[in-house]
Amino acid sequence: MHKILLKEMLAERTWHMRLHAPLVARKCEPGQFLMLRIRENGERIPLTIADWDRNAGTIDIYFQELGATTHLLATLSVGDSVRDVVGPLGNPSEIEKVPGTFVMVGGGFGIAAGYPVARGFKEAGNRVVAVLGARTKDLLICEEMLKAVCDEVLVATNDGSYGTQGVVSDVLRTLLERGEDISLVFPVGPPIMMKIISGMTRPLGIKTVVSLNSVMVDGTGMCGSCRVTVGGKTRFVCSEGIDFDGHEVDWDEMMSRQKMYGTQESEALSNYHHNGACMGGSL
Ligand SMILES: Cc1cc2nc3c(=O)[nH]c(=O)nc-3n(C[C@H](O)[C@H](O)[C@H](O)COP(=O)(O)OP(=O)(O)OC[C@H]3O[C@@H](n4cnc5c(N)ncnc54)[C@H](O)[C@@H]3O)c2cc1C
Ligand code: FES
Repeated sequence: MHKILLKEMLAERTWHMRLHAPLVARKCEPGQFLMLRIRENGERIPLTIADWDRNAGTIDIYFQELGATTHLLATLSVGDSVRDVVGPLGNPSEIEKVPGTFVMVGGGFGIAAGYPVARGFKEAGNRVVAVLGARTKDLLICEEMLKAVCDEVLVATNDGSYGTQGVVSDVLRTLLERGEDISLVFPVGPPIMMKIISGMTRPLGIKTVVSLNSVMVDGTGMCGSCRVTVGGKTRFVCSEGIDFDGHEVDWDEMMSRQKMYGTQESEALSNYHHNGACMGGSL
């Protein structure tokens, strides 16, 4: 059992939680994730390990309420526990000293997932710029945390309520136009955003590493649900990623596979809303 030590709402349906998980905290590195199960017989879901404290034995997760399991997780309070936390899983992101600027582009929960990687690149002696995107100012998360570890943080909101009006790719274009010497772009967030950024950087020959959030079931390379095609070859995100060359990913296939459990996800959410509190071990 892993006790919840902190819970805060960052934006509408977006939460930050700190869990006691000393074995995971001891070993995790930027770019890794965990599989979390709330109850016995419950569904396992993958979440990025966004921060950790090895001495205190704690890890931090940021999540958006989307379906049944994330809704249930959001109902838990400080002092409650989640049944299992398995991790760290996936390969750590390759942190290196690059000749020019490292740009982390984050959208939605991806901003939190990009935080430890941006921090790692800063610690490796790089110039680090973060480009954050949200639909509106109230949905923007982790800006202050990123300001503490980046040379510059730029924000785009779709409605123009904060930062530049537009999307993250507009801000990246502005960075390029002002002559920023970009060596490496790391987009993390919705696949469509990662696809668009990778499409922008490919003709410019800028290395682009994406953190793929394919649908996962076991997280250990056994079930095949996280399969993606990269450079014409089948790869498993959980065991061979989660970072891949964004210029080589078959984005259309990845996005269509993300919808493969759509019917079951809708049924689970509808069951949750009808029976949520009484479902016992079914989530
Ligand atoms: C390696 C990895 C790291 C992730 N890190 C985070 C994180 O830090 N914070 C966070 O909020 N989410 C993260 N996700 C996405 C998260 O796993 C899903 O939001 C969650 O599984 C949804 O579960 P659910 O039962 O609430 O919803 P479901 O009913 O299972 O799904 C609801 C909606 O979420 C979409 N969805 C389901 N699984 C995924 C998925 N794996 N990736 C993206 N969308 C999905 C579905 O297409 C559907 O539209 C990560 C995913 C992966 C693969
Ligand atoms: S989640 Fe099962 S193989 Fe990757």
